[in-house]
Amino acid sequence: MKSTKAFAPATVANVSCGFDILGFAIDQMGDTVTLSEREKPGLEVLSIKGDGGKLPYESHKNTCSVAIQAMLDELGVNPGIEIRLEKGLPLGSGMGSSAASAVAALVAANELLGNPFQKNDLLPFAIAAEKAACGAGHADNVGPSLLGGFVLIRDYHPLDIIKLPVPDGLHCVLLHPHYELNTSDSRSVLRDQIPLKHATIQSGNVAGLIAGLFQADFQLISRSLRDVIAEPYRAVLIPGFYEVREAIKSAGAMGMGISGSGPTLFALCEGNEKISDIIEAAQQVYRSIGLEVDAYHSAINTRGAYIL
Ligand code: HSE
Repeated sequence: MKSTKAFAPATVANVSCGFDILGFAIDQMGDTVTLSEREKPGLEVLSIKGDGGKLPYESHKNTCSVAIQAMLDELGVNPGIEIRLEKGLPLGSGMGSSAASAVAALVAANELLGNPFQKNDLLPFAIAAEKAACGAGHADNVGPSLLGGFVLIRDYHPLDIIKLPVPDGLHCVLLHPHYELNTSDSRSVLRDQIPLKHATIQSGNVAGLIAGLFQADFQLISRSLRDVIAEPYRAVLIPGFYEVREAIKSAGAMGMGISGSGPTLFALCEGNEKISDIIEAAQQVYRSIGLEVDAYHSAINTRGAYIL
């Protein structure tokens, strides 16, 4: 009986101006999924570690089994597979926790089944799992978790995913305050319609960010890290948002935004020299409002998910 194990990294979705269409992957942090064949057909989630008992074991609810089932349905097969999930990411954090589980499960399942799919072709199955987890089939976490680097989702129908360049020396800081914010709650505060002038501002910034990545122009990237569509509505769910932004920009960050649907905040930095000042400045603000925070820093992960 064969067994496979895969790792998928944490991600920062949206990257300020790219609501549901941009994301990048983080080094080191992520989820690990081990799959083992068994005689009895069907999927079974056998163990989940590191979730504090919060994630579902039922196959139709767990993001790992939902993702794998979507893949098996496409292949028209029904093998017996046992699933073991090790969470390396906090739940409801905005660091792509459900995406990392689904992507690690798919990469392990593809290997177990003899690689019937190319890596890119796994994305629709991961999107199905995101839909089950939070009600919205967005790809800006699963895309970069699977493929690594910066990823643009140009279109969803049909899916058109583009990998973007990662300039040398681009670093990221993540600030994770100790509370959970569900993506579905964080999406429920958004508006269905946006004013034309906001669409114009947002398009300019998305284009500017992408041009900045291609040209390795850190000033242009910095100017483009602005979101007028989601952030103004979500910031009220995130205590200290504006104070942290002010403090870490003064400490040398290129810009800051909400990581995915929050409450984690991300900052981009040129090089890693100012990272400890940026983290200290943020921690001061969080201390002043009585919130505990974990701070991480990382280069941009260009590898994505892989077999262990
Ligand atoms: N683009 C999604 C959102 C990411 O902002 O709701 C969720 O992590």
